[in-house]
Amino acid sequence: MSNLRALKKRLPLLLLFLSASLPLVSCGSMTGASSSGEAPSSSSSLPRDSSVGEKRAVLYFSCTSNTQGIADKIAANLGCFELRILPKDPYTAADLNYSDSGCRANREQNDPSARPAIENEIDISSYSTVFLGYPIWWGTLPKIIYTLCDTYDFAGRTIIPFCTSGSSGIEASVSALKTLEPEATVLSGRRFASSSTQADVDAWIKTLVLAK
Ligand SMILES: Cc1cc2nc3c(=O)[nH]c(=O)nc-3n(C[C@H](O)[C@H](O)[C@H](O)COP(=O)(O)O)c2cc1C
Repeated sequence: MSNLRALKKRLPLLLLFLSASLPLVSCGSMTGASSSGEAPSSSSSLPRDSSVGEKRAVLYFSCTSNTQGIADKIAANLGCFELRILPKDPYTAADLNYSDSGCRANREQNDPSARPAIENEIDISSYSTVFLGYPIWWGTLPKIIYTLCDTYDFAGRTIIPFCTSGSSGIEASVSALKTLEPEATVLSGRRFASSSTQADVDAWIKTLVLAK
């Protein structure tokens, strides 16, 4: 009887311990694995580096809100910090009219040295995993992502790219990110349509979490 009483007394503690150990999708740990800092067993798993903490954030650039819609859904799933990359000089509709070869976006994409300025401070220091979103421009990263990578250090962090586009895939932009951030772990990421649903996003995140 006294054993039963002792067990009852410890039950809340035991439950607390068990819930902390389960592989839940929470902002604290993407994989839910132990905090041993073990190396990932496959390239699709989410690597962990205890030296840079275990927190996740969603960081995105979006001009016409398609990528923002996906960013919001990722942040809603994970319940984590979300931050928009704001251009110092906002893009007008004319700037984005890419059927006009001389529009601002096209000029930037064609200029290897273009680094459009970012308006806001972006502090990634406490995030070990960053979901990084952007629209595909001419098959790859908008130049403002180059500015981001030039300005902030992603070394030792995991970048999980996501994008929206009319139809182009994410692959070329992921290769560009790997070149820009050779000391980060850049996962293969995912392209979404602007019409992608919360369920689509949830299903993708589940594959990331389950891959070990
Ligand atoms: C300058 C520019 C270039 C683009 N290039 C492509 C492209 O190469 N392939 C594609 O599928 N969509 C392209 N698009 C369409 C955008 O990727 C698409 O509309 C995206 O969802 C916009 O995201 P946002 O609303 O978050 O800005 C381009 C759009 C712009 C403004």
